[in-house]
Amino acid sequence: MSSFDGYEVGFDIPALPGMSEAEIQTPCLILDMDALERNIRKLGHFAHTHGMRHRAHGKMHKSVDVLKLQMELGGAVGVCCQKVSEAEVFARAGVADILVSNQVTDAAKIDRLARMPKLGAQITVCVDDLGNVAHLSASAQRHGTVLNCLVEVDVGAARCGVSGPNAAVALAQAIDAAPSLRFAGLQAYQGAMQHLEHHADRKAKADVAIALVRTVVSALQAAGLPPGLVSGAGTGSFQFETESGVYNELQCGSYAFMDADYGRIRDAEGHRIDETQWDNALFVLTSVMSHPLPGRAVCDAGLKAMSAESGLPRVYGRDDVSYTGCSDEHGTLSDPQGALKLNDRLRLVPGHCDPTCNLHDWYVCVRNGQVEALWPISARGKVF
Ligand SMILES: Cc1ncc(COP(=O)(O)O)c(C=O)c1O
Repeated sequence: MSSFDGYEVGFDIPALPGMSEAEIQTPCLILDMDALERNIRKLGHFAHTHGMRHRAHGKMHKSVDVLKLQMELGGAVGVCCQKVSEAEVFARAGVADILVSNQVTDAAKIDRLARMPKLGAQITVCVDDLGNVAHLSASAQRHGTVLNCLVEVDVGAARCGVSGPNAAVALAQAIDAAPSLRFAGLQAYQGAMQHLEHHADRKAKADVAIALVRTVVSALQAAGLPPGLVSGAGTGSFQFETESGVYNELQCGSYAFMDADYGRIRDAEGHRIDETQWDNALFVLTSVMSHPLPGRAVCDAGLKAMSAESGLPRVYGRDDVSYTGCSDEHGTLSDPQGALKLNDRLRLVPGHCDPTCNLHDWYVCVRNGQVEALWPISARGKVF
């Protein structure tokens, strides 16, 4: 067999189900299914035992299949997306509960968003502007749908969101009064501290965020609009939001795959989280294609196979070899002991999983050295 679902190996897809890992065409993304399932079960267990909802962030993997696993094995309640086009992919695949954890302000995009509940999904969107409330309401009315709205609070990342309780209450009241909109709660994600290396630094930023959210929740309660959902948290912070007693929904994404930049952050005991909490499940599989000089080799995975804005990849399971530089299609490897030879394969842990996944069409799912399945990266390129 050289094709699968009409796709041809090499031309369209990097592997076929049933192949051995050695036969996979490189470079490509592989998922270690045992590691992925462990990560998903672990976060699901944490959320369940702490009475939290987990809404998996789909911006990370952009895959309907990965989300389904997060829902089946990890009890995820639904998905977060950053873009309307991403949300459309999940809605068309039958996902029933979708949060666009972002602002949607362009008229054409509002129209697409307001139409989406007709696909059977409950759609929630973030809001930080009074004028936007009116536009969302008018569009939902036109389509005969209802949109849930979360008031976004800027809890320290200096990204989107209102800055304090008065503005949050004013927005919640406007949403509550607007036809075809429902005030569903708060979006309070602190994105700027997730990757800080030290636990104490992340906790200090989380404490500030939580204190602000607490004031906003009290103000909303006093105004007769208690927030049903208080949603936020990522892989670097979810324990803090959980312990706060004020959040009730986690939006973690990267925990499922892990990457080199996240892996180096430390837990409360000072250990790397990719040693104590999460397994590396996502790899760029690469092959050595040249060995021009002693001590230096070149592999076939460069910038077109992974992002490098958060740092270069780590060579998984090898202390004797390191990835030292990249250009479009080449990766330079330092090989001081001359251990590598042509066509040797390496698993690279990419610096940043989200933009790396967005470069590929397929996940090659591997278990026990064999290709188990091929999963399309269904929302790849959906950035509009
Ligand atoms: C709004 C929002 N929520 C959740 C996440 C997921 O965070 P992480 O991948 O760190 O778990 C992100 C990531 O950037 C985000 O932007």
